[in-house]
Amino acid sequence: MLEQTIKNERTLKSYRAWLQYDKIEDIDRKLYLKWFTAIGVATDTKITKSAVNEIIWAAESMLEKTPDINEETLDRTSIILGTYRHIHLEEYGLSSDLLEDVNEEGYVIKTVNNNEKQQILLIGKTDKGILYATYHLLRLIQTKASLEDLHIKDAPKNQFRMINQWDNIDGSIERGYAGNSIFYVNDNITDNLERVKDYARLLSSIGMNAISINNVNVWDEETNIITEKYLPKVKNIAEVFRAYGITIYLSINYASPIVLGSLETADPLDENVQNWWKQKVAEIYKYIPDFGGFVVKADSENRPGPFSYGRNHADGANVLAEALKPFNGIVIWRCFVYNNLQDWRDKETDRARAAYDHFTPIDGEFLDNVILQIKNGPMDFQVREGISPLLGALEKTNQFIELQVTQEYTGQQKDVCYLVPQWKEILEFDTYAKGQGTKIKDIVNGSVFKNNYSGIAAVSNIGNDINWTGHTLAQANLYGYGRLTWNPDLTTEEITKEWIYLTFGQNDQVVENITYILLNSWKTYENYTAPLGVGWMVNPGHHYGPNVDGYEYSKWGTYHFADCHGIGVDRTVETGTGYTSQYFPQNAETFNSLETCPDELLLFFHHVPYTYVLHSGETVIQHIYNTHFEGVEELKEFIQKWNDLDGLIDKVIFENVKERFHMQLENAKEWRDQINTYFYRKSGISDDKNRKIY
Ligand code: GCU
Repeated sequence: MLEQTIKNERTLKSYRAWLQYDKIEDIDRKLYLKWFTAIGVATDTKITKSAVNEIIWAAESMLEKTPDINEETLDRTSIILGTYRHIHLEEYGLSSDLLEDVNEEGYVIKTVNNNEKQQILLIGKTDKGILYATYHLLRLIQTKASLEDLHIKDAPKNQFRMINQWDNIDGSIERGYAGNSIFYVNDNITDNLERVKDYARLLSSIGMNAISINNVNVWDEETNIITEKYLPKVKNIAEVFRAYGITIYLSINYASPIVLGSLETADPLDENVQNWWKQKVAEIYKYIPDFGGFVVKADSENRPGPFSYGRNHADGANVLAEALKPFNGIVIWRCFVYNNLQDWRDKETDRARAAYDHFTPIDGEFLDNVILQIKNGPMDFQVREGISPLLGALEKTNQFIELQVTQEYTGQQKDVCYLVPQWKEILEFDTYAKGQGTKIKDIVNGSVFKNNYSGIAAVSNIGNDINWTGHTLAQANLYGYGRLTWNPDLTTEEITKEWIYLTFGQNDQVVENITYILLNSWKTYENYTAPLGVGWMVNPGHHYGPNVDGYEYSKWGTYHFADCHGIGVDRTVETGTGYTSQYFPQNAETFNSLETCPDELLLFFHHVPYTYVLHSGETVIQHIYNTHFEGVEELKEFIQKWNDLDGLIDKVIFENVKERFHMQLENAKEWRDQINTYFYRKSGISDDKNRKIY
């Protein structure tokens, strides 16, 4: 029954996402077919088996051909998979140090095409490299590249490439917009491992190598995930991911020693607590020998943590790190730590300051298997906010950047909002931490501070909807996240084109229209929502749709300080919260000064009158009116471009996106009208184009 369902799903284009493996016709078919006579396997591991299965799957689907599998006589075969240790490189005219300069997950793809041999070698440094090489090869075929003369060498630029599921055991997903969890059903871990496997395939095809499978908010029942009640099934999930080179992690409740161990305290310096964690960790490793470690949200939004015992976050993390160390496990400790009960009108307690203020004083106090996970911005995944000044400020501590693929504040997968341009901007940001050119991407890949561990993590956007992401175009965010994490030097345009080719094929109009929609969608979303970096203005709680004063923690008044004179949060040193001083001097000066602060972040850093003139030449109030009218008009253009694709793409996908556009248009109009009215009423200044403000 289960298998039957998944078989049906696997035939659907919306389900297949970027692993379409569309049938190749005519002349092209011949060009590719010859390589698929047989597969030679020089290295036999579970991961290599996944690679072989993927090739067979793809060959059957694209070429209607099942290649032979040949483990012994590699000579006769057409595609050869193996690590550099198992393939006799000299026989192919390749040097034995071919993979010397790439990391453990790197690979070479090489076509050997002469009178004697016609083969494609997929040579991994390890078996993971073989798998990545396989997906690379299949991507080339799907994008219709020639295989005749390949010589590709590639390796991931980031060591950790992680996805965080915010899934709960009851099947709900915190900030999930694509149905329920694929991991939990009927208040237990799922037995539908085929769906999990397809997710593992999607993730490893974009180079992911780590996943945490439960919500960072570990409430009541979730606490039990590290007990024998759930561990046997966590083990099953880990097995599925392991075969795709992905290591599994769990989020834990910091109060576990009390809740599960009946101790009276979770104080990290208490010996009983330390022993309790050691035993607990040993128990987990019995089930999952290659378990990755813990993800921890502590002392944040009502979650317990070391502060309750007068300890700092290094004490808090180190007790877990000690326990994990003998097993090579790690602690991923989140820096999203702030007191949501504070009165943020108080200059001393600007929420944006919190992560930096908490963590910079304890840089160097963490054990070397602790990684601090830092959100890209100091607030919370807004459509636009400053870059976290903590990124670059920690010289002696391992760190990840945390991005959000799920569109909590960016349209919730009802609105199209392609986030690759935003991530690209973030990763290219120059922190000046070690002088000019110290970009975020080089901090998080560990090269600037020579970290043991480094990388990128992001909150997943998938659920059990047939198309995984609710809005089919939101698949591009997951794809883009993976590709960018593998190689942050790829351009937005390259990634976008690749995703469109893989998902929709290469019809000119399809490529042109979807490219246009994706590349403009972030700007458009920003245009009709919160202006100039001020953030939020969303409905409290669920965070969708406009609510001008909406902010769940705003019992003291508006957080954006809008009144009849002006708007914005003064974060300057002289008159504001002093947040700007957390950046290195060059950025601190740029953001602190009205003259140099970029327009798009003006209200994030400054409080200004509505008549303040932006660099663009518009006043703030006129900018607000203009962008909100424009946002809706741009959206109408997207809709037109999408409708033009009727008949050119899969009907189910076409209708799905069409329906979402309808919702988005309603949303955008509501935003336009509420924001414009609000500011018109506050400021009393009319639109200089005399458009109707509702
Ligand atoms: C946001 C989000 C929460 C989430 C939190 C976090 O505040 O709204 O749902 O738990 O971030 O990252 O921990």
